[in-house]
Amino acid sequence: MMIEPHDAVLIRQATKDDAPAISAVVIKTLRETNVKFYTADMIDAVATNFSVDQVEARMAERVVFVATIAGNVVGTASLHQGTVRTVFVLPDRQGRRIGSTLMARILDVAREQGLDSLTVPSAINAESFYQKLGFVYLSDKFEGSERIIIMRKELAPTERGTEAPC
Ligand SMILES: CC(C)(COP(=O)(O)OP(=O)(O)OC[C@H]1O[C@@H](n2cnc3c(N)ncnc32)[C@H](O)[C@@H]1OP(=O)(O)O)[C@@H](O)C(=O)NCCC(=O)NCCS
Repeated sequence: MMIEPHDAVLIRQATKDDAPAISAVVIKTLRETNVKFYTADMIDAVATNFSVDQVEARMAERVVFVATIAGNVVGTASLHQGTVRTVFVLPDRQGRRIGSTLMARILDVAREQGLDSLTVPSAINAESFYQKLGFVYLSDKFEGSERIIIMRKELAPTERGTEAPC
């Protein structure tokens, strides 16, 4: 049997049993990372969308991944009809390529689904993260006075899994 290093990061598709851990990761990250870039009111409003029940209910219509270390969920990312949703990595685990590894899995699914492009409504603090993954600025969207950046990544024909004619 292969023994994983104790801090190895594993990415797997989420199950409904992960809903409490996903909710906890998102809310902790909102309150410790995103709060530096948005008002407390905005963070409170967004956090209300990530109760355990709501996270579990959305799993029916999304492809959801979790990143785990030693069995504990430390990050998550999901895809809903061509839109990247809910990409969060715990504050003390950020900067270790967990977010980009989760996004690689999202891109794999997008290719499998034959999507032409992927859209993400990015938090202002995550714009550079998505830029590094090939997303480009499309437009601004405002939730009250709070700015969200709409970004898009076109998937090249090869990225869409198109095979050369034989
Ligand atoms: C955005 C987030 C998911 C990135 O996850 P991560 O695991 O820290 O990112 P990675 O370690 O994979 O970083 C990949 C690259 O993006 C860069 N990057 C990551 N977060 C960044 C940030 N906030 N600002 C600037 N660059 C960032 C890294 O420096 C790295 O660059 P490199 O390829 O030149 O080394 C994470 O910081 C997070 O959870 N933020 C708070 C929640 C959030 O805003 N999510 C986005 C919602 S739209």
